[in-house]
Amino acid sequence: MRFKEKVVFITGGTKGLGKAVAKAFLEEGAYVGVNGRNKEAVLHFEEEFKGKTILAFNTDITNYEEMENTARKVIETWGKVDILINNAGIVNPLVPSEKVKKEDFDRVIDTNIKGTFCATQVFGKTMIEQKSGRIISVASQVALFGEKGFLPYAISKSALIVMTRELAFEWSKFGVTLCAIAPGFIKGGMNEGFIRKEIFVDYLSKRTPVNRMGNVEEFVSCILFLASTEAQYINGETIIMDGGMTGYTQEPLLDFISKGR
Ligand SMILES: NC(=O)c1ccc[n+]([C@@H]2O[C@H](COP(=O)([O-])OP(=O)(O)OC[C@H]3O[C@@H](n4cnc5c(N)ncnc54)[C@H](OP(=O)(O)O)[C@@H]3O)[C@@H](O)[C@H]2O)c1
Repeated sequence: MRFKEKVVFITGGTKGLGKAVAKAFLEEGAYVGVNGRNKEAVLHFEEEFKGKTILAFNTDITNYEEMENTARKVIETWGKVDILINNAGIVNPLVPSEKVKKEDFDRVIDTNIKGTFCATQVFGKTMIEQKSGRIISVASQVALFGEKGFLPYAISKSALIVMTRELAFEWSKFGVTLCAIAPGFIKGGMNEGFIRKEIFVDYLSKRTPVNRMGNVEEFVSCILFLASTEAQYINGETIIMDGGMTGYTQEPLLDFISKGR
């Protein structure tokens, strides 16, 4: 049991990839707190993991007061918080950048940047006091180069990469270290709709050097590794797990030249 009696909080842990992470931490002996905006998902989570060491909150990471109350309850119940997984996040409707609506842009920035910082600060304060803590944020591969259609999302996730570096510099002296992961397209969570259609799975697989999408288990094991004692010297860093997709180019220059052009 790698995380026996560790207290872990996973934002957006009631559904999707966050829920898979929650399940894995529970299996490794952790006390697991999760939150989400959808009340039914919170109740469903409580039902599914009845009898386990869980706390599930119907709270929103963009609401500072709700997050302060959430953190307070976790710490009152279990006396500490060892690991925060900043997993909650949303993507904008995919449109060319000149057509992005202000309200969609605001919603993505509010959730992915402001909300993630809010969760980080409310739990981070306790970590600083207790002089230990590990924070792992979920960024995205599109944060590295951007991609048409994803601009608000890409900007928001690149902010998490900077936040991770910056806070590692500021908070390491208090025993609080941070990492982020930048996944490519994973076969689950927000891609549930896409992966039901073979054409999308084929498309996303073909633009990845390993010729497949990432799977949920790979996402989970990357998070658990970064949270583990073995990974504690990795600090301020963002791990790209995208099957090599960051190296994707539509037509390499060499191939272009080889065609005699
Ligand atoms: N799936 C992928 O391929 C992929 C790739 C790269 C990065 N990611 C990132 O991985 C993370 C998990 O994504 P996913 O694929 O599992 O998506 P998902 O199925 O849509 O799950 C997102 C989770 O975040 C929660 N959430 C959203 N806004 C929230 C808020 N304001 N307050 C609290 N919870 C909130 C959602 O719950 P409620 O709706 O109930 O609030 C849900 O549990 C996200 O940060 C995403 O950007 C995913």
